[in-house]
Amino acid sequence: MNPWSGNRVTGWILAFALAFLAGIAGCAVGRTSVPTAEDLSVAGVLSGKTNVEAVRRGRVIFVTECGACHKLYLPGEYSPQEWRPIVKRMADRASLGTEQALDLDMYLTAASLAARQMR
Ligand code: HEC
Repeated sequence: MNPWSGNRVTGWILAFALAFLAGIAGCAVGRTSVPTAEDLSVAGVLSGKTNVEAVRRGRVIFVTECGACHKLYLPGEYSPQEWRPIVKRMADRASLGTEQALDLDMYLTAASLAARQMR
């Protein structure tokens, strides 16, 4: 049988097209599930008084420190009220300083709110 028969080629093209689309979808999900300070600003969950630099630092802490022992729990998985005691407990585990814990709390509060809005 000719391996380059029409059906097989069409099959490969379809497979590549699907893989490509899945890749695009994956990126879109990744972008919104751990939003940047800019995303949060656009989403309108930062008040005028919010220190955007602190939120930016909080995101870096979250991404670099909070997936070390387990999967990265996403901001939207807990409400801001639920995050607060978790951050207290986990800040200890991740050996964060007081400032870092506050930055992280600020980030998770805003990102959790944003995730809830998008549902
Ligand atoms: C040194 C390891 C370690 C680090 C670092 C760590 N965690 Fe955890 N985390 C755990 C363990 C162990 C559990 C399982 C529950 C428990 O023992 O409290 C857990 C559970 C959780 C849970 C599940 C909910 C719950 O209340 O148990 C969340 C959410 C979480 N961690 C968030 C974080 C965040 C945010 C950070 C970053 C500050 C972080 N973790 C850093 C060890 C860690």
